[in-house]
Amino acid sequence: DWTMGRFVDKEIARIKALVGEKGQVIGAVSGGVDSTVAATLMQQAIGDRFHAVLVDTGLLRLNEAETVKKTMSRDLNINLAVVDAADLFLSRLKGVTDDPEKKRKIIGNTFIEVFQEKAKKIAAEAAGSPQAGEIEWLLQGTLYPDVIESISFKGPSATIKTHHNVGGLPATMNLRLIEPLRELFKDEVRVLGKELGVPEEHVWRHPFPGPGLAIRILGEVTPEQLRIAREADHIFITEIQAAGLYKKISQAYAALLPVKAVGVMGDKRVHSQVIALRAVETTDFMTADSFEFKHTFLKRVSNRIVNEVDGVCRVSYDITSKPPGTIEME
Ligand code: XMP
Repeated sequence: DWTMGRFVDKEIARIKALVGEKGQVIGAVSGGVDSTVAATLMQQAIGDRFHAVLVDTGLLRLNEAETVKKTMSRDLNINLAVVDAADLFLSRLKGVTDDPEKKRKIIGNTFIEVFQEKAKKIAAEAAGSPQAGEIEWLLQGTLYPDVIESISFKGPSATIKTHHNVGGLPATMNLRLIEPLRELFKDEVRVLGKELGVPEEHVWRHPFPGPGLAIRILGEVTPEQLRIAREADHIFITEIQAAGLYKKISQAYAALLPVKAVGVMGDKRVHSQVIALRAVETTDFMTADSFEFKHTFLKRVSNRIVNEVDGVCRVSYDITSKPPGTIEME
């Protein structure tokens, strides 16, 4: 009968057979559960012949790139390259104030461009190594629900949810797809992660969208707006963890609204921005309900954000369910 231990053995054997003695695999990782677990499985199957690439878009949460780097290369021994592309992403997003779809397209296209360029470099280096062959494979952390969704709505799984997945890279790369999670549901991926030794706090992470903080900053994305959104988000998530609520909530974040309101800080009137907190409970992310915090908790978070984050004088809590709201703001 089926156990996770046997799944691991079988899948590692399958990957080894598929890739061969010298074959190499490349894949984008985000630090999310799926890509971390898929990458760990690849590492345990073929070691350094799996190349993980983390694109730092500059749109990640506070300390995120550092945390992912530490977990992946130090704890999980994954052969990881980090590409710092923050300036490029920011320059392309400049002036995009009122068009969420444009934001998403710019980020998606820039991501593909940066990843492909890095993949070419890694492939060129790999080609010079006598122990290894060419990079022929692209890892994708596709799950079973993605496979089903793609069959019923969108054609072949290689093209599913392109903008919804960090690994959603185009077929033009001429690589064959390797999808070790394609038979698993999310809860099984978590069990697999534990089995493979992925740290607990990584296994239980909330999902984080590919476009990152850009779709939580309404209006133009600038370094200053990123700073505010990042600091506020960090306070909110830290307080959620301290209150023991992290696992009860499916996803939570602080968004930055593009409006100003008046407040009094000390003895001065200020005219500054408004944070909207969002936290939802959901099982499938297709529908969701806002999380019911105790009022005292929300007040504590609000006080901390207004006092600690420069440029914010008000905090609100978004109680919209999905539908009609979406989980993200843009
Ligand atoms: P919405 O906002 O559509 O989000 O209710 C549902 C889930 O999908 C995530 N999401 C994304 N994930 N790239 C991603 O990797 C995206 O462009 C993207 N848009 C939404 C969202 O965070 C939530 O978990």
